[in-house]
Amino acid sequence: MSHHHEKKERTVPFTAAWITLSDKGAAGEREDKSGPLIGEMLTEAGYDVVEGILIPDGVEELSKQLIRLADDVKVNLVLTTGGTGFSPRDLTPEATIAVCDRMTPGIAEAIRAYSMTKTPTAMLSRAAAGMRKQTLIINLPGSPKAVRECLEFLMYPLEHGLEIMLGQTGECARS
Ligand code: MTE
Repeated sequence: MSHHHEKKERTVPFTAAWITLSDKGAAGEREDKSGPLIGEMLTEAGYDVVEGILIPDGVEELSKQLIRLADDVKVNLVLTTGGTGFSPRDLTPEATIAVCDRMTPGIAEAIRAYSMTKTPTAMLSRAAAGMRKQTLIINLPGSPKAVRECLEFLMYPLEHGLEIMLGQTGECARS
């Protein structure tokens, strides 16, 4: 194991929330496995997961929840799953872009590039990522398989990004 992936013990854990976007899930027609998986993986990585919610696809409810989590709950990280594809109801990136002050395109690009090594359909994800105030919001695709692949890949750079966003380190890690 390289030094990059050693688990760092934080005195104060980052707070995180997940949001699943799924019309079928919200209607009780499909079990949401992806949201709870994000919760498990973040908890395992040492995050304090304060909320997980399942809402229908679309811009309005997601925008409202993202604004609440950033402005009121002031959570450090929000990971969404689902609604990044080509169906007319896939509007997760639009809601994310609408509420963010600063986009972090490198995160979305890196996830897509890495995901292309897993499946060519990765190019069909329109996922976005950005910051609203001191909350980092990242869209992940909908399937548990995609969540697992993307999140494993994200974990190390994510911690460093959150530290810088929160002013806990001014230095970029040399590697
Ligand atoms: N990314 C990874 N890492 N693994 C996957 O299996 N599935 C893709 C893509 N990204 C996939 C992935 C597929 S099939 C689609 S349609 C898009 O994400 C969009 O998914 P969404 O609409 O559920 O967000």
